[in-house]
Amino acid sequence: MPAHTTQVGIVGAGPAGLILGHLLHLNGLDSVIVENRSREYVIDRVRAGVLEQGTVDLMTAMGVGQGLSQAGLRHDGLYISFQGQRHRIDLAELTGGKAITVYGQNEVVRDLIDARTGTKRPLYFEADNVSVGGLDSDNPVIRFRHGDADHEVRCDFIAGCDGFHGICRPSIPDGVLTISERVYPFGWLGILAEAAPSSDELVYTLHERGFALFSMRSPKITRLYLQVPPDEPIDEWSDDAIWDEMLTRMTTRDGWRPNIGRIVQKGVTPMRSFVAAPMRYNRLFLAGDAAHIVPPTGAKGLNLAASDVLVLARALKAFYEQGRRTWLDEYSDVCLRRVWRAQRFSWWMTSTLHRSPDETAFDHQRQIADLDYLTSSIAAMTSLAEQYVGLPGEVSFESVGLTRRQEEQR
Ligand code: FAD
Ligand code: DHB
Repeated sequence: MPAHTTQVGIVGAGPAGLILGHLLHLNGLDSVIVENRSREYVIDRVRAGVLEQGTVDLMTAMGVGQGLSQAGLRHDGLYISFQGQRHRIDLAELTGGKAITVYGQNEVVRDLIDARTGTKRPLYFEADNVSVGGLDSDNPVIRFRHGDADHEVRCDFIAGCDGFHGICRPSIPDGVLTISERVYPFGWLGILAEAAPSSDELVYTLHERGFALFSMRSPKITRLYLQVPPDEPIDEWSDDAIWDEMLTRMTTRDGWRPNIGRIVQKGVTPMRSFVAAPMRYNRLFLAGDAAHIVPPTGAKGLNLAASDVLVLARALKAFYEQGRRTWLDEYSDVCLRRVWRAQRFSWWMTSTLHRSPDETAFDHQRQIADLDYLTSSIAAMTSLAEQYVGLPGEVSFESVGLTRRQEEQR
């Protein structure tokens, strides 16, 4: 059986696992990444699109920001639409120049996989029967089958970056984790369409018939979402029915509407808020969706995954370079503070912009009043803007060995 040893065993090659692996590499620390899907599957999976300023800065500082600077679409504002009218919120003006960047998670993951491959450090795709063990010892292990061989990786630490449905969180003994959860009575039907975006900025809409979101991936590709029941069978939506509903919800009184084009991808995602605490069990550290899920309305999930692993990389660097354990001990608390702020924001965006099956007339009028206040008060817009572009990070780039010079390579 091939046996390996490494400093940090990473389960999952999503944004969390790949960013962590690269941050460790930049600090001369060794890791093995184990992913159960194929490279193509991981890259092709259509998910997030909105990167906070801090995530863009991190990718750039890590030296993996080239694709982002070439193809990323910087947005200085966004629109909130209700009662047939769009209202612009100027993110940059309200936050001293910060913005978000639209760059598909597919591209983020592709860039990070390319960087990993360039380092020649191990990254196993299509690993079967992945499990973690020895969690009560100082040398936890990752076991998996790859090709015809069973592998065992002895690790100093394991980073559980294997998403919400992964194996790391469930490997923690019963009674250790406290779970906080909210499941929403709706999901998102998302499409990618070959249509030039008809707006330069995102449009979040609350319509009588429910939520809709206008986004994009490139100057030729529009990304749109519709609120639907959480278990909605996608096959029951013809392309024509999808366009009818999109246009009904999004067309505004001034005639703005998305451009129509060939639908090249569609799917339904349920929505939940979920936090497992603490994000650590002995030498196993959970990061990203493995520890917490936000409903997508605030566009926070990938960004939280990035900020978790920045905190973890700082702690591991200090441990190896100075024998310092305090940052490992503080990892969960430091991450959870940001996680809960993002949870609150995502819950608020979701409940303000979606129609609930059990809502009362009062609830709906309160939503409209909420949006009216939001779009007419500088204070309320500033609050949304500072959260949407991302609250300041907990740890500096310098603490993970990234210099300002690299950060400025944008
Ligand atoms: P994942 O991306 O889930 O990666 C986990 C990896 O682990 C996967 O590659 C998986 O295959 C692998 N894995 C799972 N089980 C195992 C196993 N047993 N062994 C080995 N590997 C395993 N976030 C934003 O910030 N902005 C947005 O605009 C945004 N929009 C979204 C829109 C939609 C429709 C959806 C669904 C999500 C959106 N998100 C958004 C959330 C974002 O996609 C996730 O939060 C992000 O992918 C989390 O990254 P991660 O690395 O923690 O987990
Ligand atoms: C996208 C996804 C989100 O969750 C969001 O809030 C905004 C945009 C997107 O996929 O483009």
